[in-house]
Amino acid sequence: MSFYVTTPIYYVNAAPHLGHAYTTIAADVMARHHRQRQEEVFFLTGTDEHGEPVADAAHALGIEPQELADRNAERFKALAPQITASNDFFIRTTDPQHEAIVQEVLARVRDNGFVYEGTYEGWYCPRCADFKAENDIDEGNRCPIHHIELTREQEENYFFRLSSFQERLERLYAEREDFVAPRTRYNEALSFIRSGLRDVPLTRHKLAWGVRVPWDHEHVFYVWFDALLNYYTALSYANASEDLTERFWPASYHLIGKDILRFHAVYWPALLMAAELELPEHIFVHGYLLMQGEKMSKSLGNVLDPFAVIERFGADALRFYLLREVPFGQDGSVSTASFELRYETELANELGNLASRTIAMLVRYRDGVVPVSEVDPQLATDFAGLPARIAALVDRAELTTALEEIWQRVRRLNRYVEEQAPWRLAKADGRAEDLDRVLSTLAEGLRAVTVLLWPYLPTSAERLLGALGAPDISLAGAELGAGSVGRVSAIDSLFPKDEQAASA
Ligand code: ME8
Ligand code: MG
Repeated sequence: MSFYVTTPIYYVNAAPHLGHAYTTIAADVMARHHRQRQEEVFFLTGTDEHGEPVADAAHALGIEPQELADRNAERFKALAPQITASNDFFIRTTDPQHEAIVQEVLARVRDNGFVYEGTYEGWYCPRCADFKAENDIDEGNRCPIHHIELTREQEENYFFRLSSFQERLERLYAEREDFVAPRTRYNEALSFIRSGLRDVPLTRHKLAWGVRVPWDHEHVFYVWFDALLNYYTALSYANASEDLTERFWPASYHLIGKDILRFHAVYWPALLMAAELELPEHIFVHGYLLMQGEKMSKSLGNVLDPFAVIERFGADALRFYLLREVPFGQDGSVSTASFELRYETELANELGNLASRTIAMLVRYRDGVVPVSEVDPQLATDFAGLPARIAALVDRAELTTALEEIWQRVRRLNRYVEEQAPWRLAKADGRAEDLDRVLSTLAEGLRAVTVLLWPYLPTSAERLLGALGAPDISLAGAELGAGSVGRVSAIDSLFPKDEQAASA
């Protein structure tokens, strides 16, 4: 089995922000989960460096596009380890290997008869790098996304014959109802297709910052065609000793934000058809993180800055918060206040406490050695089949629902502690065996739930599994009773309360 997941490649016209971190974190959770299933995984992210968004931003700063690209690509590259993203490669569209394959694939699209010369006339948003249809323009000829004035473009271009894929795309959507998810996005893409596809510019004449068109050196490719192909080109040179295309193509999941749905759900499959390449299995479209109506937070200020959160609370806390707070696939508000609330009530009080209590009781009552005992049947029922259920949810990219399933078990274990009151068993005569069972059940439950949490909270989960002396993170081992904890060792608090904020 192989699993190939991608994020969009981000424009280097500005620095990385929370939205970029969000998609990369989600892709990382999927990649890690599939590695837990012992699958061969390839996880790709990177930067989109050509086109007007980058050229204009560079000129505004008085520098060359390449210089801006180099500067900001470094920052995006550095973002990945900061959020503990385990990407296997980082592609830059200015990589010469990428450019060469873009030229080769698009020349084939032309040889196959899907390219012709024409004149484009219409409205264009340089920030979207998008040609706008008449019904997609705000009052005063403004971009509905960026609210800037659109430019009237007229230029000689080569066109991509998107219109000739109308029927094949409709058939694709009819045959593969899970090609695009969630359903609302599938419907949106399909209705765009049904409204009638028009040919789109494949090249730009006025712009120099792009991949040269091999059959006409006065043109560069329109940035979206260059960019989309990154998902394909990366596999051929990511690994110097082996072309990975055979092993990983086509992609299992492209994760994207809803802003770039049309490019991925319509242009991309049409382009692949034109180039005679296999189509991806799934495109999953998440919503927007909204940051309005911010409530003040004592420690973080007003804006949820991912770097401030990481510095103060660690990457795990950010990863957890984003996937927990906003149902993956929908829009949702994020704020420093709701971040701190979840950090305290869930990470510190629920998971953190469960871990520290369990370990402390094992140390106090059994010298840190987990007693050999059956798992309590009432808990076994609540955990039965959980790894398979999580796998089924992650297979559909339902990352928030999967996390909720896991979190219910964290809560279940805390209730188990309250119900069984081990401190009372420890004092009572003749209850040693009961205490053994409760402590061993808690240790095993904590271990199993931590394995399931590993994709979301990799650093904390590894620390905790280390303290439990049970480093195996395979999904098969997440079944209650599948592993065993031998001797536990004390660790510092996993999610310390923010002292500074508390005393501020
Ligand atoms: O569009 N909420 O790059 P980009 C959620 N280069 N996600 C967000 C977000 C927000 N507020 N803001 C950004 C491009 N994102 C092209 C893509 S792909 C072949 C080329 C995330 O830098 C989300 O994934 O504008 C969105 O789709 C992406 O960043 C856009 O990044
Ligand atoms: Mg954008």
